[in-house]
Amino acid sequence: MTDIIRDAETTGKERKRLFIKTYGCQMNVYDSERMRDVLAPLGYEPADEPDGADLVILNTCHIREKAAEKVYSELGRLKTLKEEKASTGKPMTITVAGCVAQAEGAEIQRRAPVVDLVVGPQTYHKLPELIANVHRERGEALDTEFEVEEKFDALATPERHVDGFTAFVTVQEGCDKFCTFCVVPYTRGAEWSRPVDQIVAEVRALAAKGVREVTLLGQNVNAFHGEAPKGDPEGGVWGLGRLVRHLAKIGGIERIRFTTSHPKDMDDDLIQAFADEPKLMPYFHLPVQAGSDKILKSMNRSHTAAEYLDIIARLRAARPDIAISGDMIVGFPGETEADFEATMELVRQVNYASCFSFKYSKRPGTPGAAMFNQIDETVKGERLARLQALLTEQQVAFNQSMIGKTLPVLFEREGRFEGQLSGRSPYLQAVHCEGPVELIGQIANVEITGATKNALSGRLATKESAAA
Ligand code: SAH
Ligand code: SF4
Ligand code: F3S
Repeated sequence: MTDIIRDAETTGKERKRLFIKTYGCQMNVYDSERMRDVLAPLGYEPADEPDGADLVILNTCHIREKAAEKVYSELGRLKTLKEEKASTGKPMTITVAGCVAQAEGAEIQRRAPVVDLVVGPQTYHKLPELIANVHRERGEALDTEFEVEEKFDALATPERHVDGFTAFVTVQEGCDKFCTFCVVPYTRGAEWSRPVDQIVAEVRALAAKGVREVTLLGQNVNAFHGEAPKGDPEGGVWGLGRLVRHLAKIGGIERIRFTTSHPKDMDDDLIQAFADEPKLMPYFHLPVQAGSDKILKSMNRSHTAAEYLDIIARLRAARPDIAISGDMIVGFPGETEADFEATMELVRQVNYASCFSFKYSKRPGTPGAAMFNQIDETVKGERLARLQALLTEQQVAFNQSMIGKTLPVLFEREGRFEGQLSGRSPYLQAVHCEGPVELIGQIANVEITGATKNALSGRLATKESAAA
């Protein structure tokens, strides 16, 4: 307590507790980190739980019905905490950010009056100002405009807080694809790429703080077309392959990944980058959603199953050790047993290292929701179980195929057991092995001796075994 008072006296700012709960994709994880960064200069410090927090932010996801509903049940719990805090004479400010905020706007405050502020994914850089407004009047406060460019300019100023040796960097926002099942084009707005100089500055700053691995993020990351750096004689815009090669030259950056890509935006240069840029990890997330051309067309995915398989073949030719991950939806309107079987067949052909799979969820305002031939929930459930059984089999087989191999592992932290370290393989597999803590933050070779569905185990390779 005395520390808090002393600190408040020396900094002239009162320490406040900030709790952020993040739902949804990695882009939300990045946004939550940046919210913390813009609020830090105001004295907000991260808290592990919402009890007693001065500011609670729910950074929400609208992708499936369940995701959106979770927010309302969480708001129910927060109501009690807010009342408890109010009884001590102190307010708790509750903010709903992210994609539910964008999609539902003022409706959120009608449904849950406990909410003080609603802020969309493109305007959270204004949080300090918006929160000040709430404090001032405890009234009307809503900001869900699309001003992505202004956002990244504003975010360039506050320092980025870094937690470990890996970091996300958003390079592209929004989506113009309008897949008929998906809310993202409505919640995140039109496709937009950050200028290369801005990204380079962020990655350099991360590298200086010890980050060894960056994951470039975008709803359609391989559609990246960012303004060329100042001084580039050719000018114009750069694609993702060029950006990756450029970032790979930044001292300290050892590994680069990017997600999520769309088959339609796959170009030769990016495929080539997998062949010639060793820092680009041989693990690639390329969702296809379905294996039937009829369903792909109805989803507005703008490619066929054969075209997808062709991209996979080209990637494997360019980088023989590449592993593929994906996303699948079962039970999209009109999906027959034969269509579903085509999905199973495509999965057999690709042989995924890992793949997310979902039951189609009707999203208000998307074309899919208005289609008349919706699939029964039990049928969806049964198909999902069959698909997941196959995907699990593939994932286990992939992990087991690592046994006997030596993999470079980026150690991130101490493991659960004494003397154990925990890190990630090039394929994002969790790897546990015994080793000295000095290896944390470094890449070292591990001989893999065991594998389960979710993790690998092994022992540090000696120089001789690594060379073998
Ligand atoms: N931009 C990425 C991912 C977007 S959302 C892409 O284009 O692939 C992440 C995943 O959620 C999607 O790949 C899809 O598999 C799933 N998804 C999106 N909308 C959905 C819906 N209405 N029902 C079920 N799953 C959905
Ligand atoms: Fe959604 Fe399709 Fe855009 Fe991905 S490409 S974000 S699935 S609309
Ligand atoms: Fe969800 Fe928005 Fe990401 S809807 S998946 S948080 S872009």
